[in-house]
Amino acid sequence: MNKYFRYVDDLLHVEQVPVTEIAAKFGTPCYVYSRASLNDSWNQFSSALQNREHLICYAVKANSNLAILNLFARLGAGFDIVSGGELQRVLAAGGDARKVVFSGVGKSSSEMRMALDANVLCFNVESSAELERLNEIARDVGKVAPVSMRVNPDVDAKTHPYISTGLKQNKFGVAYGEAIELYKRACELENLRIIGLGCHIGSQLTQVSPFIAAVEKILKLASVLEDDGINLEHIDLGGGLGICYKDETPPAIADYVAALLSALGERSERLILEPGRALVGDSGMLLTRVEYLKCGEEKNFAIVDAAMNDLMRPALYDAYHEILTASHEKHVRNCYEVVGPICETGDFIGHARELIIGPHSLLAVLSAGAYGMSMSSNYNTRPRAAEVMIDGDAIHLVRERETISQLYSGEKLLD
Ligand code: LLP
Repeated sequence: MNKYFRYVDDLLHVEQVPVTEIAAKFGTPCYVYSRASLNDSWNQFSSALQNREHLICYAVKANSNLAILNLFARLGAGFDIVSGGELQRVLAAGGDARKVVFSGVGKSSSEMRMALDANVLCFNVESSAELERLNEIARDVGKVAPVSMRVNPDVDAKTHPYISTGLKQNKFGVAYGEAIELYKRACELENLRIIGLGCHIGSQLTQVSPFIAAVEKILKLASVLEDDGINLEHIDLGGGLGICYKDETPPAIADYVAALLSALGERSERLILEPGRALVGDSGMLLTRVEYLKCGEEKNFAIVDAAMNDLMRPALYDAYHEILTASHEKHVRNCYEVVGPICETGDFIGHARELIIGPHSLLAVLSAGAYGMSMSSNYNTRPRAAEVMIDGDAIHLVRERETISQLYSGEKLLD
């Protein structure tokens, strides 16, 4: 477990605050983040990169709460965005648009305009159709768009198929064999300026070798481009570093960065990374309370107040999240299916967990800082959870729990 989460006198704490106090104050389900832990993971990236010109562009999709964006902005972060909405969040949180890279396979014209207007650092272009459209939009608004091609290096990231992005059958990136032609085309387009080259091969990678295989392919392209007189200001190696949810052994941030740097060798371009999960995943937990225990004929169920709308990863990827009790209580140990109140069998938080719990026990679902709240929904008209940031002994509510009336406030009855 993350060292900022620990038991003191048999009571689970985030930094110096008992989770029972957080639940009593803000109710459950509730996401809780540790500021010290977020700082810590940021520092691991930034110190590993200190001897090289670099920009760490936090992947906003992992957790887009303004407090988290603001914390990273203050630490000097850039941001990797995939929508106009994420750009607006970054700006609202005090982020610097000139440190924003705009990724994604389906940027709309209006999103391109927004990003040009904000003067983002770079558009990570993923297809020739997008390249042509970007040139047209830039011409319309009288600007020159900075461009980096996101190339698909056709490397197996060895991760869950839904989050593997660097294989040629995936929808992402410019095909490796077409990249040079596309750069040449970009040179002909007057409202584009080539500044970079990059890739992103997938998420929750637990080995270094696929990253290195991708770097090697990217470097080959970079030298062909150089021979063709196309010079790059940066190389963007994406995000993707995994964390330990159960028994995975991903490389430490420092080792991952060291491996990338060594693979980059003598190349002097600025290095951009787009980490999401590795920056925030371990720093958050989801607090949830047991509503009912139900002993079935074959299985025991712990029905909790968090559901797949709050944390979608188990339902979507069959993902494992460790579940702890907030305190040691006197109950019988039992094996439970930890499930939510939503009307789907896929609504589970954890299968077959040995827990010592009773009705009303408070549970902490770990490693929920990344792709937890940001993937939440209002399914079953469930208001989204509150979010809380702990900083030492201080408790900050960084997002209020939604109210039910907010959920349908934009809806209209028929005349
Ligand atoms: N850059 C690009 C272009 C991306 O598409 C992503 C993630 C990242 C960076 C950040 O990747 P990270 O460092 O977080 O692995 N919802 C899934 C993960 C989807 C990742 C999508 N792209 C999950 O819950 O596991």
